[in-house]
Amino acid sequence: MTSPFNVTRIKRDFPIFQEEMRGGKRLVFLDSGATSQKPIQVMDAEREFYSKHNAAVHRGSYYLAELASEAYEGARARVAAFLAVSTSEIIFTKSATESLNLLAVSFERSAGALGIKPGDELVVSELEHHANLLPWQQLAKRTGAVLKWFEMNPDGSLDLTKIDQIITPKCKVVAITHLSNVLGSAPDIGPIIAAAHEVGAVFVLDGCQSVPHQPIDIAALDIDFLVFSGHKALGPTGVGVLWGKAHLLDQMEPFLYGGSMIETVTMTGATWADAPKKFEAGVPNMAQAVGLAAALEYLSEVGLPKIHSWEMELTAYALQGLKEIEGVTVVGPQGIDARGGVISFVIDGLHPHDVGQVMDQYGVAVRTGHHCAWPLIRKLGLTGTTRASFYLYNEMADIDIFLESVNGARDYFRNR
Ligand code: ALA
Repeated sequence: MTSPFNVTRIKRDFPIFQEEMRGGKRLVFLDSGATSQKPIQVMDAEREFYSKHNAAVHRGSYYLAELASEAYEGARARVAAFLAVSTSEIIFTKSATESLNLLAVSFERSAGALGIKPGDELVVSELEHHANLLPWQQLAKRTGAVLKWFEMNPDGSLDLTKIDQIITPKCKVVAITHLSNVLGSAPDIGPIIAAAHEVGAVFVLDGCQSVPHQPIDIAALDIDFLVFSGHKALGPTGVGVLWGKAHLLDQMEPFLYGGSMIETVTMTGATWADAPKKFEAGVPNMAQAVGLAAALEYLSEVGLPKIHSWEMELTAYALQGLKEIEGVTVVGPQGIDARGGVISFVIDGLHPHDVGQVMDQYGVAVRTGHHCAWPLIRKLGLTGTTRASFYLYNEMADIDIFLESVNGARDYFRNR
């Protein structure tokens, strides 16, 4: 199994892999589903912004402010190019969570087709992490709308047998993940998007776990909104993206109010700037946006198709290894079809937190617990899982140490 790019060279771009973990172990980072590590190129881009371009964008009439605005708007153009959409359709937020809250609050405030009224229906699925559940759940509570959801099958797919009862003419918004952050499963969203559009609802795709890892064709998917976070895509923390179709953004009310998002202001009222400014109140996260642009540049240079295929190689190898360890059960999809590079598993009789602690002694970083998707974990009848998630900087040797550490965890507690 040779990687389609030089993983050893890639790893050298990430300063954190030069660090030793407790006990002199090398870091085996298998928690990119929670946050990715950052290459030096991203750190350099942020440092360059602060060193050479820092001023408040869209305000000053001086040269430095022009440079800052160019850097910030250049970052927006880079994100738009990455997604193959119009630059004015890209909104920078602080996180994917904020992007989803922006949508929910804006729909609540908007008039017309996008506005939410009592009795309207909002649809999610049992796969969602809290970021794509709570904004809609709470929007339903505030407005008298009804929250409905697709149930999950044990293999991590969605049960679409009742699609006509779940997506009805009362449905206004359908918000579904592209890839489960817990199980790695990729739900069959095609029929859901078609059903949403048939009844005039908008479809929101949560791309947190997919956009950083695989090519996304927004036009082919035929979605209306997409969210993802910068920090899971090699970018800095504090920056997220919301993409929306221009004609929908035009109909939407602002989320936050303040400077930069206005057209005119009097003591008694205000009118709004066009999107994207309408949704970016205050001095924005300029350096973070520039860092994110550098991260997307990095991903594009390596190539998303290659990254995806390498992650699937790692996943196949890890799945095979886990299945050979007695007492270990992989939760969710068992094979590599319709999934990404995220694997959840449990070890008979052991709490995931205990498992994670022993794995840490091998230098292996995994996430344990409910993974901010508590309803999903409850549905599986579990208290939590241990989750390994892969990225372009992982090598086959990482998986060997991972499997050794899972064996180690099982034996440690078995012998007690
Ligand atoms: N983004 C969080 C994770 O999957 C929910 O770790």
